[in-house]
Amino acid sequence: MRARSLTGIKPTGSPHIGNYLGAIRPALKLVQDYDAFYFIADYHALTITPRPEQLVEQTYAVAATWLALGLNPQEAVFYRQSDIPEIFELAWFLSCFTPKGFMNRAHGYKDRLAKNQVAQTDPDDGVNMGFFSYPVLMAADILLFSSQVVPVGQDQKQHLEFARDIALRVNTFYNQDLLLVPNPLIEQDVEVVVGLDGRKMSKSYNNTIPLFLPEKALQKLVNRIVTNSQSPEEPKDPESSPVYALHKLFLTKPQQEEVKSLYRAGGMGWGKAKSLLFETLNQVLSEPRKQYNELQANLPYIDTVLDQGAIRAREVARETLNRVRRVSGIRP
Ligand code: ADP
Ligand code: TRP
Repeated sequence: MRARSLTGIKPTGSPHIGNYLGAIRPALKLVQDYDAFYFIADYHALTITPRPEQLVEQTYAVAATWLALGLNPQEAVFYRQSDIPEIFELAWFLSCFTPKGFMNRAHGYKDRLAKNQVAQTDPDDGVNMGFFSYPVLMAADILLFSSQVVPVGQDQKQHLEFARDIALRVNTFYNQDLLLVPNPLIEQDVEVVVGLDGRKMSKSYNNTIPLFLPEKALQKLVNRIVTNSQSPEEPKDPESSPVYALHKLFLTKPQQEEVKSLYRAGGMGWGKAKSLLFETLNQVLSEPRKQYNELQANLPYIDTVLDQGAIRAREVARETLNRVRRVSGIRP
């Protein structure tokens, strides 16, 4: 039997090229080696209390994004967190084994405390219990499905450590391997994708290229990438240009050499370099964009996919939860 992997995706913001290359594409590759579970962490998003219409919209946007980029619901299990009530029952069980001190140390909570201190407000200002115990819910997401590996970015490492610690505490208390202790899978060789201004592409820097922009808007953004003031005639250094840094991510090695020699030969202005980049990007993104738009125009289809995923996920969920109930003295 194949080991299980599990990825949780929070429905926030529109994904950009950095998210795709740094997180989505590597996560989608897991179907090759694992029994891969993907879910939309909609109840996690509720901890920041979004407007209902926003939560609905972003949940569909995330689902459509992953499906458009190649998540095949025949090969993987894809569901909404909120469709699996067992997760929330397990979260309560786990919270009875989670020292409050773990949550006091959680990065998200500590950031909030620090902000409140600067603002000289109450230390717990703006902290609801959902936000405070966010890592317990995440541990339940993972432990319920006995996932051996969980692909995460650096920012989620601590959450994974909590999930491991909590599982070990439960196992020690009941003196058996009740919950499988998960391992983080941290991609070592993902490149940092640069944004329009040459810094790391990030929503917080407002320098992103969103994945599914209409063609015209994509072209406009590409034209905004920073360049130096070299004239068209001058030879250019591809390695120091964000235009090339983005371009190379979508080129094969021989294509990279070809484009680099165009930069170095001189006679190619930045306008031309950008239009080459635009053509490549547009070619790579046009099919997923089309799929994304079709999916967004067919929300009942997305619902069907997620409903079917939830049926499969709940089979696994019930098994784990029954075991937990039996062992802990709660009637299964
Ligand atoms: P943002 O910085 O835009 O808010 P997130 O923090 O939501 O992005 O990132 C989600 C995932 O996408 C992270 O796990 C991270 O690994 C990946 N990611 C984000 N930006 C980049 C980037 N510029 N290059 C590579 N990977 C990225
Ligand atoms: N906390 C994760 C994030 O902010 C999302 C998430 C929720 C998750 N549950 C998970 C990730 C379980 C992996 C496994 O991105």
